[in-house]
Amino acid sequence: MQIGREINRGKTKTIYETDLKDKLVIEFRDDATAFNALKHQRLARKGMVNNYFNAFIMEKLAAKGILNHFESRLNDTQSLVKRLDMIKLECVVRNIAAGSLCKRLGIELGYNFETPLFEFFYKDDALGDPLVTVEHALAFGWANAQELATMRELTFAVNTVLKSLFADAGILLVDYKLEFGRFHGELFLGDEFTPDGCRIWDAKTRQIFDKDRFRQDLGDVIENYEIAAKRLGITYPAAAQTT
Ligand SMILES: Nc1ncnc2c1ncn2[C@@H]1O[C@H](COP(=O)(O)OP(=O)(O)OP(=O)(O)O)[C@@H](O)[C@H]1O
Ligand SMILES: [Mg+2]
Repeated sequence: MQIGREINRGKTKTIYETDLKDKLVIEFRDDATAFNALKHQRLARKGMVNNYFNAFIMEKLAAKGILNHFESRLNDTQSLVKRLDMIKLECVVRNIAAGSLCKRLGIELGYNFETPLFEFFYKDDALGDPLVTVEHALAFGWANAQELATMRELTFAVNTVLKSLFADAGILLVDYKLEFGRFHGELFLGDEFTPDGCRIWDAKTRQIFDKDRFRQDLGDVIENYEIAAKRLGITYPAAAQTT
């Protein structure tokens, strides 16, 4: 397989074409961004840790029958994925209230949802990724009713798999964001599942292992991603672990 030209350079990942029509290479960079890229830093080892973290989670999800774009890890920072026609929506499930939800609705941090809460956000950096309803998505043709229903179902299915996977590692899955895309008429989970796009806390102490450490200047950002990775049994070469 040959890596071709760069087709998309996002805030944290770069996407390359390959000589395989349906496959792309996704590269996790060391960039960290928050608050719609107002805050930006490079964090050593981030790309590598996220690449291994994502590969591990995507493989666990695939083993439970949740279709996703992940094919294989190519090296420390790059993975081969299916080329999806991405839907411009973010699917969020919240088990515990945190982040934007607390601000928006005045809910106390840590409020436990009896039934997990699902939200759609419209992916548009210029608009600040606003919360939208199914009606908005239909009215603007971002996805059809069947696709929206499937995205919601799959996002909840991911919750069932990952809540218990993380619980076994002494970690609370607070919330997470997923992106989906179309592949030959079927919906696949795409993008990434890493501590950049979820909130994960130590089940006992509520120590934060995710991007909130970066947002809130808590320090030791990648060290804490790695605590979660280690607990989940994610391994990577010793050489790659040292800075
Ligand atoms: N399998 C895939 N096929 C095609 N595009 C993908 C795939 N997986 C992820 N992408 C896209 O790759 C882009 C780069 O990722 P990154 O997260 O760095 O972007 P971003 O800065 O968050 O921008 P965006 O707001 O568009 O997500 C994103 O637009 C994402 O939707
Ligand atoms: Mg992104």
